[in-house]
Order: sequence, then C-alpha cells, then structure tokens
Amino acid sequence: MSRALLLPQVFKIKTIKRLTPDTLLYEVTDQDGNFDLSYRPGQFMEVSIFGSGECPISITSTPSRPQHIEFAVREVGLVSGAMHNLEPSEHIGLRGPFGNGFPIDALKGKDIFFIAGGIGLAPLRSLINYMLDHREDFGAIDIVYGARSPELLCFAEEFAAWQEAPDTRLHLTIDKETPGWQGKVGFVPAIVKELGLPPRDRAAIACGPPVMIKFTLLDLAALGYPDEDVITTLELKMKCGVGKCGRCNIGPIYVCREGPVFRLSELNRLPAEY
Ligand SMILES: Cc1cc2nc3c(=O)[nH]c(=O)nc-3n(C[C@H](O)[C@H](O)[C@H](O)COP(=O)(O)OP(=O)(O)OC[C@H]3O[C@@H](n4cnc5c(N)ncnc54)[C@H](O)[C@@H]3O)c2cc1C
Ligand code: FES
Repeated sequence: MSRALLLPQVFKIKTIKRLTPDTLLYEVTDQDGNFDLSYRPGQFMEVSIFGSGECPISITSTPSRPQHIEFAVREVGLVSGAMHNLEPSEHIGLRGPFGNGFPIDALKGKDIFFIAGGIGLAPLRSLINYMLDHREDFGAIDIVYGARSPELLCFAEEFAAWQEAPDTRLHLTIDKETPGWQGKVGFVPAIVKELGLPPRDRAAIACGPPVMIKFTLLDLAALGYPDEDVITTLELKMKCGVGKCGRCNIGPIYVCREGPVFRLSELNRLPAEY
C-alpha cells in the first residue's frame, strides 16, 4: 500500500469560494504549486485539518482539468467546521484518492441522466465536467438538480456553461415557490417523473439526501430503468478509507474500497440494514 494512502500529505489551499450559506469550495494545490495527483470522478479523499481530525470528502474537480483539486465542504461538525475557519494559503492534509469512482468506460456511448440534490451535486460535478470535456464520447446529458431554495443550489456559476454545452439540458428545481425563481418547483423525484426520460440506452446517476434517493429509485423503476443502469453513491461513516478499520462495511464489502459508487443491481445483493 502506498504511503499516500496512509499518511496525510500536506497541500495548500489556493482559493476558497462560498457556494451556499453553509458550503465552501476549496481549490487545493501542492505546496510548491506543481500539482500532480491522479484520480477518477467519483473518488474521495480523507481530508485532515491539523488539530481537529480527518473526514472523507468527494473530489468535485475533474481530472480533465488537472491544475488543481477541488472539494465542496458543508459545515456540519468538528472537522468541517474547522475547515470552514481556514483561509487561503493555509495547509490541509490529504490521503487518497480512495474508492472505485464512476464506471466511465461502461457509460461511453450512453445517454446520461444525472439526478442530484443539495451537496450531492459535488461528486456528480466531477463526472459532469469530465463528460463535457469528452463530449463526443457520451450521448445526450440531462441534469436534474434540486435544493430547498435558490441560494442552496451549489455551483450556480457553472449552470450557464452546462446549459450551453451541446446536447445538454439542466433542469433546476426548488422545493417551494420563491419570488423571481425561473426554474421548476417541486421535489427532485417529482421532476424525474415529470421528465419521464425513457431508459433505452440511458444510465441514471443519482446522488443526494437519502430521502431523495429513496423516491428517485422508485420513480426510475416505474419508468422502466433496469437496476444495472441505475448508479448511486453511498456515504456511510468512514475512517481509514482503505478497508482496514471496519467502519464502513456492509456484510462482506467495504464501501470505502468497493464503493462509494454502486449500481442498484449491486446494492440489491447486499444485506438490507445499511
Ligand atoms: C465517500 C464520502 C464522500 C463525502 N463527500 C462529501 C463532500 O463532498 N462534501 C461534504 O461536505 N461532505 C461529504 N461527506 C460527508 C462528510 O464526510 C461528513 O459530513 C464529515 O465526516 C463530517 O465530519 P465533521 O467532523 O465535520 O462532523 P462530525 O462532528 O463528525 O458530525 C456532525 C454530524 O454529522 C453526522 N455525520 C458525520 N459523518 C457523516 C456521514 N458520512 N454521513 C452522515 N452523517 C454524518 C454526525 O453523525 C453528526 O450528527 C462525504 C462522506 C463520505 C463517506
Ligand atoms: S473506512 Fe475503514 S474499512 Fe472502510
């Protein structure tokens, strides 16, 4: 096992941008600015804040734009709160990358239906931008993205570029009518149902809060999507990231190693109580 998987390497925060009231985007680079870290969309890293601890965070940048790595972090507790107190030029530790990532080769040639809620867009953004940078390898792209209110939508600065990309549609939704809002109103699964995109030659990739995933999976099944073509991510509690500590196992599998990306057909074979 390589040293980088067990021992945090020190990286420097280059920029910090606010995405929503509780979520910041960190652009991180090597201490000397010569960034060299290979990863796949859908992988995550263990981010350590010195003196506070470590937590798993998805890589939200794409390896097709290789000058830096980015993380979107929502403040929920000790480590994420300490990270929110950092400033550009300060240092963090990184271990990884970990996990399997999205099955990019198997998705080539297919239409893609991205379905995201809240910060669930973070890992999908890596794959969306990867696909837009390799546009000829993939079919039509539809992105349904929802949040409770407009100011809670992450990555708003990128929406125009996504909408203008060839054969790509972005369907934004918020939970309740809000003055000035031009997009859709309703929960993400309701928009999935309303769009009714047929499953033929299309893969659905969903990431978001458990309740959104639960109803989205039901709607995709009702639309006829085979479990093989439905992909989602599991964010169980994790510690080591390398299949050693047993924090993340479901029956015989370690989510940190075999996941966090799974086809629904794979999840159906796991014990039900995760
Ligand atoms: C593979 C993976 C990828 C992730 N990607 C991102 C990301 O891109 N951006 C992001 O902001 N967060 C992400 N998370 C979640 C993030 O790891 C947790 O929010 C983080 O561990 C919280 O640490 P903390 O010390 O700030 O909170 P703590 O003080 O440890 O906990 C605060 C509260 O959050 C709950 N909590 C902690 N971890 C989790 C978890 N994994 N799932 C559900 N509840 C939890 C605790 O039970 C507690 O109620 C990811 C998690 C995993 C497993
Ligand atoms: S996080 Fe330790 S085994 Fe998965």
